Amino acid sequence: MLTTLYVVLAITAVFAGVPTPEETKRMMEHLSGAEHYKNEEHNNQFDHDAFLGEDQAKTFDQLPPEESKRRLGLIVDKIDADKDGYISMVELKDWIRYTQTRYILEDVERHWKQHNRTTIDDDQEVITWDSYRQEVYGFMDDMNPNEMSTEGVTYSNLRKRDRRRWAYADVDKNDALNRTEFAWFLHPEDHDSMRDVVVLETLEDIDVDKDGKLSLEEYIGDMYRPEDGESPGDEPDWVKQEREQFAGYRDTNKDGFMDVEEVRNWIVPPEFDHAEAEARHLVFEADTDADEKLTKDEILGKYDLFVGSQATDFGEALVRHDEF
Ligand SMILES: *[C@@H]1O[C@H](CO)[C@@H](O)[C@H](O)[C@H]1NC(C)=O
Ligand SMILES: *[C@@H]1O[C@H](CO)[C@@H](O)[C@H](O)[C@H]1NC(C)=O
Repeated sequence: MLTTLYVVLAITAVFAGVPTPEETKRMMEHLSGAEHYKNEEHNNQFDHDAFLGEDQAKTFDQLPPEESKRRLGLIVDKIDADKDGYISMVELKDWIRYTQTRYILEDVERHWKQHNRTTIDDDQEVITWDSYRQEVYGFMDDMNPNEMSTEGVTYSNLRKRDRRRWAYADVDKNDALNRTEFAWFLHPEDHDSMRDVVVLETLEDIDVDKDGKLSLEEYIGDMYRPEDGESPGDEPDWVKQEREQFAGYRDTNKDGFMDVEEVRNWIVPPEFDHAEAEARHLVFEADTDADEKLTKDEILGKYDLFVGSQATDFGEALVRHDEF
């Protein structure tokens, strides 16, 4: 399956070395700071987030299937900008970009309002590092930071990471972020000047032995963990392909490791367009008659791929009603 995808993508690629769908997802996840995917459910969730925006994806998760299908139909009508009855790759790409942008704007707005803002230079609203630190990490003042951790990450490391990212976003170096700078801080994946810090954070996430570079095992370990009792021979084909990718393509200087530059080329390759890659992936998965565009029937036929819910407790959830 993945082999087919990879071949198709390689043929349709306009530039050399286009990432596989698996890689696309991984890149986008690193860039968006989302949890790394571990199984099919994660993959689906990832597609849903890209297609619906994270907020909407949560909403859809809580709807009964009939209702989310109905809403999916309404979304399809909206995506079909020229109303010709087909969703083209471009229309889908524009839609994905729109949902990403909308999500980011809303997320920044929500966080901006939550924090303590101060006015400087008479009219400019900013959040100072001191006040951000106090609000987010103030609880650490009374604790031994090394005792406080979540998922193996100590809070003091999180604070250090935030502090460094803050410095990257603080373009005018006044140790306070205005709204624009705060958006870069919160969503660094969205801004060129934040790429260096995104690359560093990614490297650090995967670099288990903290030697500042990625070994093959660290690279694979980030995307795949064998089940208990599974022998190396049981590894899925895509993992074997990733091993070959590492040696043949990622580790460009062939020293057995990926350094910062090699990680950069992996997660932020030049000219890579996330929305386009995701659109291409969705079209490929749903395009039953292989005409490179989607009908409403094809999309509804792949309801799970686009919006399908993993949730079980339909009744309880408070569902946000907005445009649908
Ligand atoms: C906001 O800042 C003021 C003044 O520094 C402080 O008294 C207040 O506790 C802060 N609010 C929050 C939510 O941290
Ligand atoms: C925020 O700061 C940046 C960089 O210092 C500046 O370019 C921008 O105009 C400011 N934005 C606002 C909304 O004040």
